[in-house]
Amino acid sequence: MKKPISRILIINDEKLILREFVKGLNAAAKSMENPFGIIFSGVTTAHEALQSIEQDGDIQALVVDDRLYTLKNTAKHARDLQMTALDLVQKITYFRPELNIYILIAQEQEDEVVDALFSETVDGYFYREERDYRGMYRILNAQLQEKARTPFYDQLKNYVLMAKDAWHTPGHSSGDSLRDSPWVSDFYEFIGEHIFRADLSVSVPMLDSLMEPTGVIAEAQKIASKAFGAQRTFFATNGTSTANKVIFQTLLAPGNKLLLDRNCHKSVHHGVVLSGAHPIYLDSSVNKKFNIYGPVPKQTLFDAIEKHHDAQALILTSCTYDGLRYDLPPIIQAAHAKGIKVIIDEAWYGFARFHPAFRPTALEAGADYATQSTHKVLSAFSQSSMIHVNDPDFNEHIFRENFNMHTSTSPQYSMIASLDISRKQIVLEGYKLLSRTLELAKELRAQINSTGVFQVLELSELLPDEIKQDNIQLDSTKVTVDISRCGFTVEELIQELFERFNIQVEKSTFNTLTLLLTIGTTRSKVSRLYDALMRIARENRAPRRLYQVLEPPHFTELKYLPRDAFYCGGELVPLLDEQDKVNPNLNERVCADQITPYPPGIPVLVPGQMITKEVIQYLANMLRSQKRIEVHGIIYDGYLPCLRILTIPEEKNLKKLVSVDNYK
Ligand SMILES: Cc1ncc(COP(=O)(O)O)c(C=O)c1O
Repeated sequence: MKKPISRILIINDEKLILREFVKGLNAAAKSMENPFGIIFSGVTTAHEALQSIEQDGDIQALVVDDRLYTLKNTAKHARDLQMTALDLVQKITYFRPELNIYILIAQEQEDEVVDALFSETVDGYFYREERDYRGMYRILNAQLQEKARTPFYDQLKNYVLMAKDAWHTPGHSSGDSLRDSPWVSDFYEFIGEHIFRADLSVSVPMLDSLMEPTGVIAEAQKIASKAFGAQRTFFATNGTSTANKVIFQTLLAPGNKLLLDRNCHKSVHHGVVLSGAHPIYLDSSVNKKFNIYGPVPKQTLFDAIEKHHDAQALILTSCTYDGLRYDLPPIIQAAHAKGIKVIIDEAWYGFARFHPAFRPTALEAGADYATQSTHKVLSAFSQSSMIHVNDPDFNEHIFRENFNMHTSTSPQYSMIASLDISRKQIVLEGYKLLSRTLELAKELRAQINSTGVFQVLELSELLPDEIKQDNIQLDSTKVTVDISRCGFTVEELIQELFERFNIQVEKSTFNTLTLLLTIGTTRSKVSRLYDALMRIARENRAPRRLYQVLEPPHFTELKYLPRDAFYCGGELVPLLDEQDKVNPNLNERVCADQITPYPPGIPVLVPGQMITKEVIQYLANMLRSQKRIEVHGIIYDGYLPCLRILTIPEEKNLKKLVSVDNYK
């Protein structure tokens, strides 16, 4: 394994003293154990210090002299205060909150300095006059050790190395059931010995319990909460899909109002059914040219918060799949002013705290809950997510009950270890890796545009008109490309990239492709993609006609609570008859299921929603014109596509919602 480099920067404007400190500390590092490759270097000004933390991703900590002076270039060489330690600490923390900061102080000023820095994230103080370099080194090294700790992963590894005989689940018994099989040992070989050895169960107490953590899982979660700026962090092994549902069931009692973007992930809509919430759907903005669904307009949100001030919670996705990030602080402020809790689905944004280009994160903007698919954009295994909590009214007992309701009693331990490792990685090398990812994104964008055929959509082109003034930002690691001039349909292009160039892309609309860059993107992958697109561009194909997917109709009316409607038995009614004509009998009936054409993935109907002629026509057009399109929720009775709808007697038994409650 490569040895890391960890730079610690000393900031002191007195050159001689600075030199002595750097020399003394480096000598201490050399003569003592140095597992993290600590090297000390020095700068004399706050300006240089800020420049260094921007440019050097290996910096892990800073030691700031409490009074920084600068020599004035005057005859008298008067010394002026260049920036107070307090200012500098605030700037460093704003820029890179994961860095450790120590302050060098003079004994006589101790109280004054400590008071001023009390509320800042300062990790400790050293007396300037002591010059105890070995003592300082020991503390700085220990601090780094704390961040590098992975309590769960370490324990898992220790346990595996202990090679205990397993008289417990899982049945493969560390892979022993597979290893020598003439039929399935190839699976063992392919997946690898350690996946099986590390696949353990709650029968091993030293690995703690995800359902009631008090040991190494609790510790790992605590370290993660500090790293992500949360009061509490919980590891979820069923993805953000489950994380969202857990929060809903914690916050929402049946009938409680929930404000939500209609374009939220389907887990959010499932959470509505499970919790029994009364959803108020807010229409997302839509970029009609590219069929891209963006954030809900700010004014729509403000109006909804005002109108539904009795709502219990608001959930939004930020950033969206396409990288559009809300201006969260004023929205969260408005919601909090009415006592509405804010949940932000950060499934695509789990890295954001570790580079200023992506901040503020949801929690930094004031959100009460943030859910992150650590597996989507960091190094965790699929399904490994985190739930971060900053809700001042957090009810841990209710949360725990709901968390346990959704969590398997046999969680996959490698996933928990991968969350522990992902946190360590993003804290210690996140800034460096994200800086590289941003650089690669910039290069890739320029290269794609240089093909003259493919064109990257910048923020102004991605933004739907109705949110142009909403201070939306773009996460530039999500690259959306207009493919309309390349001579392929989007499906053909995806196929061409896959078959001819070995490239698999993230997602598409009828005329765009979206490429996802992560901390795992390499320059050679970028080159291969560029090469592929350039070759295709040079083939000069005549543009193809591209068929746009229709825009879903506006939300109609919610007549009953989604949960009430979903749990009705209902009846199956065909959408089209034998002659392929739309069935007029569905008009004004109520749907029992969620019907979602994919793409675009927005539910056209949710349980409890009234069906209109417009909706029936839209679904019929989808089924007729786009053979490849999936319409989730449609049931086939033979070859006839049907909807499950409420029977008239069922409707009579349900409590009708007041229609004015539906925000449109
Ligand atoms: C916005 C959003 N939220 C939640 C999820 C679900 O995340 P997971 O795959 O971790 O269950 C997704 C998945 O694509 C998503 O796009």
